[in-house]
Amino acid sequence: MYKITLIPGDGIGPEITKAMKKVIKKTGVEIEWEEVKAGMEVIDEYNTPLPNYVIDSIKKNKIAIKGPITTPVGKGFRSVNVALRKKLDLYANVRPVKSFKGIKNRYEDVDLVIIRENTEGCYSGIEHKIGDYGAETIKIITRPACERIVDFAIDYAKQNNRKRITGVHKANIMKLTDGLFLDIYKDRVENTEFETDDLIVDAAAMNLVLNPEKYDVMVMPNLYGDILSDLCSGLVGGLGLIPSANIGENYAIFEAVHGSAPQIAGKNIANPTAIIQSAVMMLRYINENESADKIEKAIEIVLKNGNVLTADLGGNSSTDEFSDEICKYI
Ligand code: NAI
Repeated sequence: MYKITLIPGDGIGPEITKAMKKVIKKTGVEIEWEEVKAGMEVIDEYNTPLPNYVIDSIKKNKIAIKGPITTPVGKGFRSVNVALRKKLDLYANVRPVKSFKGIKNRYEDVDLVIIRENTEGCYSGIEHKIGDYGAETIKIITRPACERIVDFAIDYAKQNNRKRITGVHKANIMKLTDGLFLDIYKDRVENTEFETDDLIVDAAAMNLVLNPEKYDVMVMPNLYGDILSDLCSGLVGGLGLIPSANIGENYAIFEAVHGSAPQIAGKNIANPTAIIQSAVMMLRYINENESADKIEKAIEIVLKNGNVLTADLGGNSSTDEFSDEICKYI
């Protein structure tokens, strides 16, 4: 019996995490969920969207899975997601993007992984106004953070039998910050067994749209990973499909790439695939590989059959019907 922290989150979070729990239960893996609330629903009571009990629970259980949490745009509290990654030093964000058969994709043979530095870059949270004239944000790139994210990408490539690593940067313009990332990247990948190259982020965006099948493992600073992973999810059928893992030395949090989708919250129409795929990553993290394989196969079958799909994938089934269909094949 595992004990794992579950943060249902805001918007569609409670619906998709409920579906995820049902699918895991069907595999027979026994998990005691320690459910803790964070985000909009606790802010009035605790005067923060991230009360200490959330961090305490994750520190105790070491592993968490979370639904999305709403972040006010341009005002209000800072992102809970960013705060969790920083407080628990979850330095590597891993986002596998793969095309599924049966889904109306723009591309059928995408199989790449975005590895995003998760603790610094443009997400330092250090911003200030310059009177009425403007505002300034400070982008921080450090040698230790670059070294560990590039090493993580190399290890990931080894463990997952990948062939190629691409470093993404904007070192032509940000010569010191991204220049440091690029130097470290080149130095670290130079003597590995992988085919390696590097790309400026704007060129990377274009190449990913033109020839995504050419890419394999891609490693990059924080903001580029955020943007390119949404771009890549668009290549294979949308945000409803793409999972992620936030990994550190001591803790890990698994979550969908998408946000709280407030427009469709509470309607039982959200696609739970991304959070279920995140649970698959979690099962692999705890070495429950057989159950992870079973869920992955079941998702493939349901998407290929194509008769029970949520609206974002062109169907008209509910979140519950879709997750029940996955359970049928486990
Ligand atoms: P979003 O990912 O919530 O939605 C973008 C579009 O994708 C919308 O049309 C939405 O309906 C659709 N969508 C997303 N997930 C879906 C799913 N599972 N099934 C079907 N359709 C889905 O992005 P948006 O609107 O920019 O952000 C909403 C809120 O979520 C914001 O407050 C944002 O800060 C937060 N957010 C939280 C994240 C997290 O907790 N890790 C990540 C991204 C955004």
